[in-house]
Amino acid sequence: MRAEVTDMGGYTLTENAPLGARNTLRVQARAALLADIHDATKLPELLDFPAIGKRPLLVLGEGSNMLFTGDFDGTVLAMATRGVQLEHDGDHARIAVAAGERWDDFVRWTLGQGLAGLENLILIPGTVGAAPIQNIGAYGAEVAEFIESIEAWDIRERRVAVLSKHDCAFAYRDSIFKREPGRYIVTAVRFILPRQRALRLDYAGIGEELARMGIDKPAPFHVAEAVVHLRSRKLPDPAVIGNAGSFFKNPIVEDAVAERIRTAHPELASWPAQPGKTKLSAAWLIETAGFKGLREGDAGISHRHALILVNHGKASGTQLWALAQKVVDGVRERFGVTLEPEPVVVGA
Ligand code: EPU
Repeated sequence: MRAEVTDMGGYTLTENAPLGARNTLRVQARAALLADIHDATKLPELLDFPAIGKRPLLVLGEGSNMLFTGDFDGTVLAMATRGVQLEHDGDHARIAVAAGERWDDFVRWTLGQGLAGLENLILIPGTVGAAPIQNIGAYGAEVAEFIESIEAWDIRERRVAVLSKHDCAFAYRDSIFKREPGRYIVTAVRFILPRQRALRLDYAGIGEELARMGIDKPAPFHVAEAVVHLRSRKLPDPAVIGNAGSFFKNPIVEDAVAERIRTAHPELASWPAQPGKTKLSAAWLIETAGFKGLREGDAGISHRHALILVNHGKASGTQLWALAQKVVDGVRERFGVTLEPEPVVVGA
């Protein structure tokens, strides 16, 4: 049955909308109402409908970091706004980008403009508006470093808010948007990107990959190419097999906990975190606990990378969540460390 779409001018509304093609784990959930937003200035008008304002809201980008454990009995707001504006150019460029732009397209555009900074963050699925929510990061870089401010609709205060980078309280896979869920709808992100910068080559095989490519004086686009090679080798492509990238955060534990695990496993993968704390590789914990490549029905843990929950075909959100829970329990029993999901788990 095809859902009916109503054009409201600046946004469209669809009742009982299928979300299977709108989340990269390809879970066949439905939304009571789906609003595709093409013009962010229409958000207040939309949220003023009593049937919308009083029911649960969920903001969706490309759905690349979301697990639906059931249907959503409220309104899904899909940000489809577009626009990249170069506001200032010089040693540093200032760029305002609409929330609905695809992250990877924007990264490639910056590289084409000769701007540095985002090269380590190429090929991350999702939208620009979603990037600050969990402060996306890879290969030793995090998006927060390059954000000047965020423009958002503040649902609580009913006004446009401009949050400085400081206001956003960015941390590892965390921000104010995760800590105050349901308050802000990110409408645009303002970036500051340098023309010249010391490249970050020391992380997770980038140096080795550049050497393999025969590059000894890398430019940002060489680093980006190295990251594309690394990611394509390691991470399953959501276009081929349903997944939401890393499903668990790397846990940050007391040094003593890391030491205890290291005594039994000298090969433990870990990194220093804030003073007194160590960040452990969740992938290592999951693999060592024996879950890599596990499959129950169509729900699985990738055989390529232990951090990635995959949908081999028709797994439901409940089945995927049950398997994730099994991994959490198994890692807790084995190592005494509790893993937390990285994506937004809807309905759990
Ligand atoms: N490892 C295993 N088993 C595996 C995979 C990895 O033991 O199956 C160990 C290895 O020892 C490796 C270590 O884990 O050295 C770290 O692996 P990797 O470099 O792949 O990074 P990660 O910590 O697992 C993080 C991000 C990724 C990002 C990569 C690369 C998180 C939750 N994940 O993964 O981000 O691409 O680093 O920088 O921080 C995402 O957030 O969706 C994501 C893919």
